[in-house]
Amino acid sequence: MKAMSKHEWQFFINNLIEEGSHKVIGVKAKGEKFVFGPLDSAEELRLDYDTTILPPKKYFLPTHEDLMRYDISQPFNVLHTVDESPRIIIGIHPYDLIAILQMDKLYLDDTSDDHYKAARKNTLIIASDIINVSQYSFAASMATHMIARTRAYDLLVTDLGEVVAIDIGTESGKLLLEKHGKTREASEEEIVKVEELREDLASKYEKKVNVEKTEWPALLSKNYDHLILKEKSEKCLACGSCTLVCPTCFCYDVEDLLQLNGKEGVRRRTWDGCLMREFTKVASGEIFREKILDRYRHRIFRKGYYLPERYDFIACVGCGRCVSACLPDIADPSDILNSMTESPQSDEPVISFPQIPKTDVVSIDSHCLFVPTSATIKRIEHLTYCETLYELVKDDQTPLGHQPGQFIQVSLFGIGEAPFSVSSAPGGKSFEIVVRQIGEVTSKLRTLKVGDKVGIRGPFGRGFDIDSLKSKDLLFIAGGLGIVPMRSLINYVLRNKTQFNDVTILYGCKEPNEFLFWDEISKWHKRKDITHMFTVDSCPEGVCWDGDIGVITTLLPKVDFNPETTKAIVIGPPIMYQFVIKDLEKKGMKDENILISLERKMRCGVGKCGHCQIHGMYVCKEGPVFNYAEIKDLPEAI
Ligand SMILES: Cc1cc2nc3c(=O)[nH]c(=O)nc-3n(C[C@H](O)[C@H](O)[C@H](O)COP(=O)(O)OP(=O)(O)OC[C@H]3O[C@@H](n4cnc5c(N)ncnc54)[C@H](O)[C@@H]3O)c2cc1C
Ligand code: SF4
Ligand code: SF4
Ligand code: FES
Repeated sequence: MKAMSKHEWQFFINNLIEEGSHKVIGVKAKGEKFVFGPLDSAEELRLDYDTTILPPKKYFLPTHEDLMRYDISQPFNVLHTVDESPRIIIGIHPYDLIAILQMDKLYLDDTSDDHYKAARKNTLIIASDIINVSQYSFAASMATHMIARTRAYDLLVTDLGEVVAIDIGTESGKLLLEKHGKTREASEEEIVKVEELREDLASKYEKKVNVEKTEWPALLSKNYDHLILKEKSEKCLACGSCTLVCPTCFCYDVEDLLQLNGKEGVRRRTWDGCLMREFTKVASGEIFREKILDRYRHRIFRKGYYLPERYDFIACVGCGRCVSACLPDIADPSDILNSMTESPQSDEPVISFPQIPKTDVVSIDSHCLFVPTSATIKRIEHLTYCETLYELVKDDQTPLGHQPGQFIQVSLFGIGEAPFSVSSAPGGKSFEIVVRQIGEVTSKLRTLKVGDKVGIRGPFGRGFDIDSLKSKDLLFIAGGLGIVPMRSLINYVLRNKTQFNDVTILYGCKEPNEFLFWDEISKWHKRKDITHMFTVDSCPEGVCWDGDIGVITTLLPKVDFNPETTKAIVIGPPIMYQFVIKDLEKKGMKDENILISLERKMRCGVGKCGHCQIHGMYVCKEGPVFNYAEIKDLPEAI
């Protein structure tokens, strides 16, 4: 351990500031509170702070961050923007450092986020032991009040009054110290003082969680409907403050912003929070966590159950910021966990976390996770008054390489990005999407012409496991736009029919004019090796229709299938799933033989933005295709 006098410490900090190769950020006072901000001089730096208003997360995932710049006056002109400026952040407390290590697991995984990665790579961290404890914090209960000697920090300083003790964590930290400061070896007495300060720290915390943090997931799994969640959420204003100040809330939204000249623009991500009503809103208007209770529960369960099951850490470091930020005083996780410990809802788990095979996202260039590649529209076919088919080719001439059931993100710069299923069967250089005109991106798409360019990312997600369908009887049940992703699989199966057994296709729409792909349907009529039936909810007077009339479930009794040898592929609006699945189960079909595809709001497509999360699963990664057994016990799934 090294040491320097307070005077030398200030000299070191001022040297860092004056030398100017790094932006120097530290903790300083703001009124009666503290914030991380750029330092003008060492005098501003406060190592005695209790906690800051916002965590240092803002330097790794800024509140607003431009992901790319573009010029829409040219066919496809996108500039990837990554901030590479070097920084030193001084004074990060152990709990915030642990939160950053957690964020590393999410943002530097198999689909590493290059903006985050650059920020981490270009930042030197001078962490600081906690001297004064925040009255709202329960970090000692979370074992985040101290950090083990680790390379997580470049330097770790301990303010001993007249002296600052320094642990060196990395070679970069050592070089920084050698170049800009004057240190000596810490004396025995100083080392003992540091150890005592750390040992005494735990006793300074008044706020406690009365359950070991390793027990959080088990406790929460038994308390999904605990009264405390209902009571507290009734007072929740859905303001989102608790998520914004939290060092372990990493969700974000993305929007396109055009400059006044109408030509140049940026795609920007901004912090978002799962307490906000619009967080799970999809284009059809459906909000998947409409009730505040569900959003309130999601925040706590994400921290204490979903992320721990997935990443092996409790996503609450006990900093207490949410406790002080919440006006009605209901956000405190320690309160909730303590109430559940005192009077649990159940002794047994009431929800469980399914083991879902994780799929690596394919076709992603790790240098530009969010920057789309250009594709050209080769063919446009207006299928109905509001649904259009686009045949696209990537401009680099490489095939998309998708599996049936996967999706891509389509970008229109200046408007936004939206997910669409790939509707064509795998193979070939071109691929097809079918778009229902519903909002901004989809309306703009409708105005494009053959030869126009769009941006695409993907393919993303888990599609259908074709091998598991081989030699099976297949029962396709499509409702409305559900035929679009299903068509990719249907066409694959029909082209390779010898690999599959009986094929039955049931397809229902509200009215006859909503049916898509009449050309292909007429080809099904000519095939003797498949069965197909169509139905409409109702048929307006004067419209010619020779199929059935009634909801899609009315077709099921007319189909003869063996539940033991059949796989059912069901895609349609959420309401359809409930009825169809119930009827399939009545016919003896096992849950694992029912395959469905879920829709959620999707921003990133790669498990970062948090929008598509259902319990612990990311629909963009583990889905959108699921077998029903995987999600049937998740109350938020259907
Ligand atoms: C996996 C998946 C596959 C899909 N496949 C198809 C398909 O094949 N054909 C089809 O027509 N539609 C499909 N959708 C729905 C489609 O993504 C939405 O209709 C589209 O995002 C609407 O965008 P908009 O800007 O026109 O609508 P708006 O209502 O204007 O949307 C407003 C904003 O919200 C965003 N938004 C709305 N819904 C979503 C969403 N689901 N995810 C992310 N952002 C959203 C839009 O990008 C936009 O910026 C799919 C959705 C998912 C999740
Ligand atoms: S949930 Fe609250 S106490 Fe826990 S890390 Fe987030 S802000 Fe801090
Ligand atoms: S828990 Fe509190 S801070 Fe969080 S959204 Fe509700 S009222 Fe706002
Ligand atoms: S986490 Fe962003 S879309 Fe799934």
